[in-house]
Amino acid sequence: MTQAPAVSQENPLLEGLRKRRTAEPCALTIFGASGDLTQRKLIPALYSLAFRNLLPPNFGVVGVARTPMTDDEFREKMRDAVVAHARDEFRPEVWDELAEGFRYVATDFGQEGGEQHVVECLHALDRDRGTAGNRLDYLAVPPAAIEAIVVAMGKHRTSEGWTRLIVEKPFGHDLESARHLNEVIRTYFDESEIFRIDHYLGKETVQNMLVLRFANGIFEPIWNRQFVDHVQITVAESLGIEGRAEFYEQAGAVRDIVQNHLLQLVALTAMEPPIDFSADSVRNEKVKVLKAMHTPGPKHVVRGQYGPGYIEGEEVPGYREEPGVAPDSLTETYVAAKLFVDNWRWADTPFYIRTGKRLPKRETTIAIQFKRAPHPPFEIDSEDSLRPNVLLVHVQPDEGVSLAVGAKVPGQGMTIRTVHMDFLYGGAFRTGLPEAYERLILDCLLGDATLFTRADEVEEQWAIVDAMVAPWKRDRPNFPNYAAGTWGPATAAELLARDGREWRAH
Ligand SMILES: NC(=O)c1ccc[n+]([C@@H]2O[C@H](COP(=O)([O-])OP(=O)(O)OC[C@H]3O[C@@H](n4cnc5c(N)ncnc54)[C@H](OP(=O)(O)O)[C@@H]3O)[C@@H](O)[C@H]2O)c1
Repeated sequence: MTQAPAVSQENPLLEGLRKRRTAEPCALTIFGASGDLTQRKLIPALYSLAFRNLLPPNFGVVGVARTPMTDDEFREKMRDAVVAHARDEFRPEVWDELAEGFRYVATDFGQEGGEQHVVECLHALDRDRGTAGNRLDYLAVPPAAIEAIVVAMGKHRTSEGWTRLIVEKPFGHDLESARHLNEVIRTYFDESEIFRIDHYLGKETVQNMLVLRFANGIFEPIWNRQFVDHVQITVAESLGIEGRAEFYEQAGAVRDIVQNHLLQLVALTAMEPPIDFSADSVRNEKVKVLKAMHTPGPKHVVRGQYGPGYIEGEEVPGYREEPGVAPDSLTETYVAAKLFVDNWRWADTPFYIRTGKRLPKRETTIAIQFKRAPHPPFEIDSEDSLRPNVLLVHVQPDEGVSLAVGAKVPGQGMTIRTVHMDFLYGGAFRTGLPEAYERLILDCLLGDATLFTRADEVEEQWAIVDAMVAPWKRDRPNFPNYAAGTWGPATAAELLARDGREWRAH
């Protein structure tokens, strides 16, 4: 468990962090309460919100899953989860107050009337905790379980209070299934009540991308095809599939990361300034980028699968040797692609994206590579010493922003080297960053959908992914094609080399 560093009262940059928004009374129902996400992310996030007094006083949680458990067993399990995963120290008084509002219902939505106990429990919470009929339903269940829960809960909507629904990713498996899911959900819930989660959007650095671009006058004039040579977005993981073979065999890297996180990062990087920061203004601009993106042909998409190798000196098995994975699996664990956003700002500017498992390190970055200075009036040792400027946004870890600039090496002559002007979140604000789920759950309690994905956005993302994977049905790739602990298949390097470029060094 990591603790938030002590907050320094003298730090002037902290002004504004103390601004609080207050959420209304509410009962949060977590479907999938016995699962991994609930324990690793959701309950620790609720604890951290309680730690900072950000939850409403009239608040309750109903955990729902098929596994039998009593209320007390549920509280005990969630307490352990907080101790193991919360970013804040464990304070019994904070936990006890939060856990007092916890209830658990074991039920199966596959059975007729399976929701009845949940509905009764929610009415009891309204009485006991004053949750005022306001409902937040969090679907932390596998995609196949979503429909039955939406239909059952949708039929029991109360006229009292508001109802909101958080749906975890993956939202569907392809465009058709996503459209179907949207239709089912919209039978019972209005679009303004649906919060499709992509937890990347809850990350501070992702939001900072918007601040960087639109709150600083200096970047926007050069944020276009005239000054930007290309953009590279990397979502690298050093982990393998962590025992989640059943899920990963179905999803692969393209559905797990490209369809949601990567395309969202492209949209945020490429979007036009919204007229304000309201949910619809921001999402309208992102959708325009997704619509303007032209479908990458097979030559512009590379896929890979890791074989055995070494991560930080430790031997790790190949994907096909992971428990639960078919020995001849063709699931991709790596994808790279070259995308174009066909609009006035970005025409002919490539956006190279890549993601993979078992890469040498965990890192998510957005690199805006600017064009070279047109004419250096100095004698330079080599082309290499005068590199183009790069604005690098570190989404995780070491959240921050860094600008690579050429500088003179002290001493005689005009030797130039690249140096970095760095801004590190932890250093500047001297405060621990909130977990994405804290921000997103709180936004949902407040009814702010800006950082959630709208139906049309999700469908545009699937349309791009469907087109990327369509040619894959026709060929058999020669997998595995990269060793664990390397930066992906050779074809990924060739994708850029053909354009006279290379992936950013790490
Ligand atoms: N774990 C993560 O870090 C993560 C990150 C992003 C998104 N997600 C998404 O979040 C969802 C949950 O993931 P997870 O990792 O927590 O999965 P998990 O550990 O397998 O948990 C699934 C939960 O859903 C319940 N469940 C399974 N089948 C059900 C059914 N037919 N009806 C009702 N409940 C059912 C399970 O409880 P019972 O078996 O007791 O019913 C369990 O509580 C998935 O959609 C996943 O893609 C997870």
